[in-house]
Amino acid sequence: MHLRRFGKTGWEVSEIGFGSWGIGADWGPVSDRDALATLGEALDRGIDFIDTADVYGDGRAERLIAEALRSRGGKRPIVATKAGKRLKPHVAAGYNLENLASFVERSLKNLAVETLDLVQLHCPPPEVFYRPETFEALDALVRQGKIRGYGVSVEKVEEGIKALEFSGVASIQIIYNIFRQRPAERFLSAARERNVGVIARVPLASGLLTGKFNRDTQFAATDHRNFNRHGESFDVGETFAGVDYETALVAVEELRSLMPHETTMAQMALRWILMNDGISTVIPGAKTPEQASANAAASDLPELPASTMDRIAELYRERIAPLVHQRW
Ligand SMILES: NC(=O)c1ccc[n+]([C@@H]2O[C@H](COP(=O)([O-])OP(=O)(O)OC[C@H]3O[C@@H](n4cnc5c(N)ncnc54)[C@H](OP(=O)(O)O)[C@@H]3O)[C@@H](O)[C@H]2O)c1
Repeated sequence: MHLRRFGKTGWEVSEIGFGSWGIGADWGPVSDRDALATLGEALDRGIDFIDTADVYGDGRAERLIAEALRSRGGKRPIVATKAGKRLKPHVAAGYNLENLASFVERSLKNLAVETLDLVQLHCPPPEVFYRPETFEALDALVRQGKIRGYGVSVEKVEEGIKALEFSGVASIQIIYNIFRQRPAERFLSAARERNVGVIARVPLASGLLTGKFNRDTQFAATDHRNFNRHGESFDVGETFAGVDYETALVAVEELRSLMPHETTMAQMALRWILMNDGISTVIPGAKTPEQASANAAASDLPELPASTMDRIAELYRERIAPLVHQRW
């Protein structure tokens, strides 16, 4: 597992991390036993960066992470959680010290630690990026020793660019994958100039970029790939990266011919993200130990050839960009 520098934090983290939304909720049923085995396998494979949130299963993902780490001992990975989505209503004014402090207390308890490594504002309303008092509240939590650092998770490229103006921001999490290439235009270089870590999420476009789906694939009623396909519950960009399912299936068929020998499409998709050194870590979700182990192995793959990178850029321009490029 190769490590990358995580912005100005001084941390070196595994370039493949672990996304824990799926073991928390919203991806169909996953038992505690399977979730713990999956986390264990990820850690065994050298993954030492875990992304989570206080709302994944209303704290279930955080508690499972605490349990997995308690039973293992040894060097702790970096655990990056998120706060803000518990606000009802989810409005910018709610991102104040009082609320953030109470969300942090709950995550400290769930994760069974005295200090959180990293707290990310969880796709806040864009007005938050025009409220310096929110970032001052996070600075106060750092001073109080409640959190080591903070970052933001964003939906849109411009939100990420605006967030870079706050000097305390250590990391930005954004959707970046073969179907969402716009962050590479300006955002990744801007983050690098400010020495801010970048976490690439939804790297497999919710599993589409594994090549395993077809027109007849069924998703459980509790899986957002069923209930949020048209953005019914949250930003549609979080489900299949916002790409229309049928269009995506056609593009995936074209990607098949580009897969390097003895490499799966999921591994190629992860390697494509790592080709950009503006990325600090990529956080695929996994629901089984086999998925976690296969994803970790993408770190050891050779670079993708220039001809493959060119073809993927062309495929994006022709088929996918018209659907997503100007939306996020
Ligand atoms: N607002 C936010 O901040 C936000 C939003 C979304 C995600 N995230 C973070 O980003 C992480 C990753 O994104 P994501 O989970 O949405 O999507 P993803 O990583 O693109 O897709 C994950 C899903 O793909 C399938 N999969 C994973 N590895 C596989 C493999 N090797 N072979 C076959 N199938 C595989 C699994 O589902 P199946 O087996 O069921 O197909 C898995 O749950 C999340 O877990 C979360 O930590 C954050």
